[in-house]
Amino acid sequence: MADEPYGTTKGFFLSSVCWMTLGALAGLIGAIELVAPDLLGNIPWIVFGRIRQVHTNLVMFGFVGAGLLGGIHYLVPTLVRTPLFSERIGKLSLWLWNLALVAGVVTLSLGYTQSREYAEMVWPIDIGVLIVLGLIFFNLLETVRHRKENLLYVSVWYIFGGLIFTFLTYFFGNAVWHPDTGSITGIPDAILAWFYGHNILGFFFTTFAVAAAYYIVPIVSRTPLYSHTLSLIGFWTILLMYSHIGTHHLLQAPTPTWLKVIAITGSVGMVIPVMTVLVNLWLTMKGRLGNIHSDIGGKFIFAGSVWYLLTCLQGPLQSLPYVQRLTHFTNWVIAHAHMGVLGFAGTMTLGTIYFILPRITGRPLFSSRLANVQYWLVLVGLIGFFTVLTTAGLIQGNGWLNGETVYRILPQIHLYMVLRAGLGILILAGATIGLCNVFMSLYGGERQTN
Ligand code: HEM
Ligand code: HEM
Repeated sequence: MADEPYGTTKGFFLSSVCWMTLGALAGLIGAIELVAPDLLGNIPWIVFGRIRQVHTNLVMFGFVGAGLLGGIHYLVPTLVRTPLFSERIGKLSLWLWNLALVAGVVTLSLGYTQSREYAEMVWPIDIGVLIVLGLIFFNLLETVRHRKENLLYVSVWYIFGGLIFTFLTYFFGNAVWHPDTGSITGIPDAILAWFYGHNILGFFFTTFAVAAAYYIVPIVSRTPLYSHTLSLIGFWTILLMYSHIGTHHLLQAPTPTWLKVIAITGSVGMVIPVMTVLVNLWLTMKGRLGNIHSDIGGKFIFAGSVWYLLTCLQGPLQSLPYVQRLTHFTNWVIAHAHMGVLGFAGTMTLGTIYFILPRITGRPLFSSRLANVQYWLVLVGLIGFFTVLTTAGLIQGNGWLNGETVYRILPQIHLYMVLRAGLGILILAGATIGLCNVFMSLYGGERQTN
């Protein structure tokens, strides 16, 4: 069974949709606690401080991470026209990844945390994650070394760039040479922590999601990629720009001014890699939106590309000190985070899963209609999230700038917190439908006719 073709990709995809459902549920529990803090009875392992960390780690490393790792185990072999070097190593990576996540949920729920955003999981789990990244790198590198296709398509560049940078980011960002705390001290640690937090988004999620989009868009558009040169410019400029701008998360902190200036300049410069990717994808799609939308995978990828544009227009804007003075520490940032991680990376992940699934099972999706229902539930939920949270953020920011204390603003944003919890039910419903659809596509017998 270990050598079943595409077994690794199938396993990662199933894991992704399971973690999406559990992660969204954890988000909903957290949202309910922000509406009515005592409603759930203050059970220690789900108090807000713990369930928030469970939520972010599950949606980021479980849902988006596992989905995109499944994607690259299909993309690399397909693009170099050679089977995956070892499905056994692939399966080992899959099981270790899931084991790390289960251990993460248990330890975070019990209160064991390194208390650094997105780097909360404790040291032994970090080592597990690094081993998995190393195994995946080795497996895919051996696949490329045995390749039958000489030309390395841009997606392969993105995937290897992503793997190398993610490994380094994770190693340094979690300060794994300090197992007791997983951190260094003082302001240097804040800088290190946001070097990490920011690069995980840019080098783990963005590189793999863009790699998938570069593969899927020309196929569903039934035309070659608009420009190979442009795609490589995008690749090298993202490495150049993204790596050193994490300090834009610390503009309100006593970090060195020169570092802030570099971070702000680089954040605005991010427009270059982002726009080269988007212009390239959209010119490939030009006049072919009908084709794109007739494939449910393509439809998700297109939506993800629009969210990428919006996230990366908002990102440079909120990197400007005058803007951030209003928006920092407010729900504005939570809106941006959901737009980036769910809208861009998550929607691309779902597109990758739905595009690849029929190709590895050899039969249509269990139900394209259900996938469409999921598409709309996530889209409506997310547009709602963005509107509600941005509004709440502006209320908080304006109140604080006018000297109001934090707790006196809370009644003013209560309604928005209620609405966010309600919208979260839509996203959770979408995640559950996706879980059923992917499970049935892999293991179900009868197909639905649409
Ligand atoms: C399934 C896709 C989802 C993804 C990828 C996602 C992603 C994220 C991320 C990245 C954060 C951290 C935000 C930050 O620190 O700036 C976050 C926080 C949060 N999310 Fe989600 N989320 C998802 C679904 C949900 C759902 C369905 C709900 C339910 C209402 C939800 C509620 C929350 C809450 C309450 C927080 C904490 C906000 C705070 O600290 O004030 N999320 N989510
Ligand atoms: C041009 C690109 C981007 C720029 C310049 C940018 C800029 C920023 C800035 C300045 C913040 C901090 C805001 C504050 O704390 O006041 C932030 C937060 C965040 N961004 Fe972006 N962003 C970009 C793209 C993205 C993308 C593509 C994603 C998702 C894949 C993303 C996910 C996040 C998340 C999760 C946070 C919340 C971090 C936290 O918990 O505090 N961003 N972004």
